[in-house]
Amino acid sequence: MANNIFGIDLGTSNIKIYNRADDSVMVEKNMIAIENKKTFFAYGDSAFEMYEKAPGNIVASYPVSNGVIADIKNMETLLKYFINDISGGSIKPSDYYVAVPTDVTEVEKRAFYDLIKDANVKAKKIMVVEKAVADGLGLDIDVKNSQGVLIVNVGYDTTEVSILSLGGIVLSRLIKVGGLKFDEAIRTAIRNEYSLLIGGKTAEKVKVNLRELEKAGKPAVVYGRDIVSGLPVEREIPTALVSNALIESFNTIIDSIKVILERTPPELGADIYKHGVYLTGGASQVSHLAGLMQKSTGLKVNVCENPIESVARGLSKVIKDDNYKSVAYSIEGMGR
Ligand SMILES: Nc1ncnc2c1ncn2[C@@H]1O[C@H](COP(=O)(O)OP(=O)(O)OP(=O)(O)O)[C@@H](O)[C@H]1O
Ligand SMILES: [Mg+2]
Repeated sequence: MANNIFGIDLGTSNIKIYNRADDSVMVEKNMIAIENKKTFFAYGDSAFEMYEKAPGNIVASYPVSNGVIADIKNMETLLKYFINDISGGSIKPSDYYVAVPTDVTEVEKRAFYDLIKDANVKAKKIMVVEKAVADGLGLDIDVKNSQGVLIVNVGYDTTEVSILSLGGIVLSRLIKVGGLKFDEAIRTAIRNEYSLLIGGKTAEKVKVNLRELEKAGKPAVVYGRDIVSGLPVEREIPTALVSNALIESFNTIIDSIKVILERTPPELGADIYKHGVYLTGGASQVSHLAGLMQKSTGLKVNVCENPIESVARGLSKVIKDDNYKSVAYSIEGMGR
């Protein structure tokens, strides 16, 4: 029987795995919980459940940080659990297509290959696809024939801004701003304005619900700890405070787009101007980001339906469509 094939987008907060066998994408928190510094306790969404709530002897963490693998051993453990789950408890010999960021070192890139090779997931073939190229395919862009495609992926720890042309990457920058920075900005603003400490999950909820709250004209209701009294309290937070808190991070992203555009060969400008920016990644959905981007760059901003899965959906195209096989490459032996 032919090997099964998986496509992996190893995000900082979410791991996405495309499974050829049933043509589905699994999305889980890329998180592991360890008890007493050594015993494996939980993984994925259930580890995230414990995050910020567990007693001190259970530590939940993300093995990917700023888009690269920071904790190899835990990432290997996690990958094996996820692949095992998707495979119904018995992993078959499989081929793996993994998406890698472009603006990282060769050693960091190679770590994605080594991870799959060393995770005991019966890898027969391991291929690499640049994340932005996979994103483009996932967004249904004809990346192989377009001359000048601007893709902005706003994730959890990072935002990747890339220019593609004819199936390859012309320029790419990875900056350390994403959904986490948005959450932190919300926490800081609420602490400064209301002397109220809120948790990361609460801030994330406010961010995700912001658009709906604005539409309904309602404030965000949060629970936290009053810094002065030390007691838990409930507070109403006006949405304007939240949206103002986010502007600085939005501008950092927009500035990096402008820098990339300044460095883009002028011959590619026509297509970029014609098509605009393709905005994706989970945190790209935050209220006002697309609007501010459009205003500040003068470019049309295309948003997409399922931005968390766009890289994994792109990998699925590489896996299924021979036409796109050429965007995947092997790094076996590279850098050694
Ligand atoms: N509806 C929403 N509105 C705003 N933000 C959202 C929404 N849904 C998810 N997010 C944010 O998207 C982020 C996760 O997105 P994604 O899965 O693309 O990141 P990642 O791939 O794990 O991170 P990275 O690309 O930095 O490694 C989180 O910060 C989450 O809060
Ligand atoms: Mg990502």
